[in-house]
Amino acid sequence: MAFVTTKEMFAKAYEGKYSIGAFNINNMEIIQGIVAACKKQNSAVILQVSKSALKYAHPLYLVKMVEAAVEETGLDIALHLDHGPDFETCKACIEAGFTSVMFDGSHYDYEENVAKTKEVVEYAHAHGVVVEAELGKLAGVEDDVNVDAANATYTDPDQAVDFVKRTGVDSLAIAIGTSHGAYKFKGEAKLDFARLEKITEKLEAEGIHNFPIVLHGASAVDQDAVAMCNENGGQIKGAKGMPLEMLRKASSMAVCKINMDTDIRLAMTAAIRKAFNDKPDAFDPRGYLGDARNYIEAMVEKKITEVLGSTDSMN
Ligand code: G3H
Ligand code: 13P
Ligand code: ZN
Repeated sequence: MAFVTTKEMFAKAYEGKYSIGAFNINNMEIIQGIVAACKKQNSAVILQVSKSALKYAHPLYLVKMVEAAVEETGLDIALHLDHGPDFETCKACIEAGFTSVMFDGSHYDYEENVAKTKEVVEYAHAHGVVVEAELGKLAGVEDDVNVDAANATYTDPDQAVDFVKRTGVDSLAIAIGTSHGAYKFKGEAKLDFARLEKITEKLEAEGIHNFPIVLHGASAVDQDAVAMCNENGGQIKGAKGMPLEMLRKASSMAVCKINMDTDIRLAMTAAIRKAFNDKPDAFDPRGYLGDARNYIEAMVEKKITEVLGSTDSMN
């Protein structure tokens, strides 16, 4: 049993007007919580790993744990590199068995992004691996890159078409108003749906049909989880995320992959804080880590039913 690529997942999601959830993984409990929810909802899923996660957990451990998840659940699971910073990291993940890699050249100037993405695409395709790239700049923090709101730029539709044609990339992450992390907006959340529509129309006009778009920075910053953290000694103040209905609407359009990490982190932290607070005398990690796993499972199930719409995507 092996990981699947996202190609078929996205083709079905595009047609079915839903998205596949891409959740960041760092350890066993996170993986188990996510796939347990997907199993209940009979949903395909993308488990994604950032450069810092590779450093934290070691690629071999992550690959083996995801292999175990595939074997245990029988689900379609893609293993994806999130925000790959360079060719070497993408190549190492392809060699380690990943079925999908993201090369994130969004902080380079346009021509450099095209050239570097193309190099990754050529190598990945020669090895049966698909590539996600990014055009436009999201606000927020990811790995070592911190883009403030003033320097975030939305994706230009004409450039997006040119980029897809010249790089041969399989999916594209765009900037239309989402941002990474737990502090996404000062005012109201806004998503530029007109821009998303324009990108799709222009791709279609060039004969690029049903091209999958990716939304990063799409955590809702679940307010129950934030409250649970704060009620149990946390100090997460003013955290705000994407409204669920906006993400649902994006899923019904060309968006086929929705990235969520912050909400998983909040769920894990909330459950552990509560467990420590409720039982100060307990010190068996299986207690609090088990609670964290359960909360992650509940959170992901909510994402599948309320945001992604990917229930029964295994059929
Ligand atoms: O977009 C980035 C993800 O949230 C991963 O974060 O680099 O801290 O693992 P990380
Ligand atoms: P959030 O910070 O909104 O969870 O976004 C995660 C992400 O885009 C990972 O690539
Ligand atoms: Zn991201």
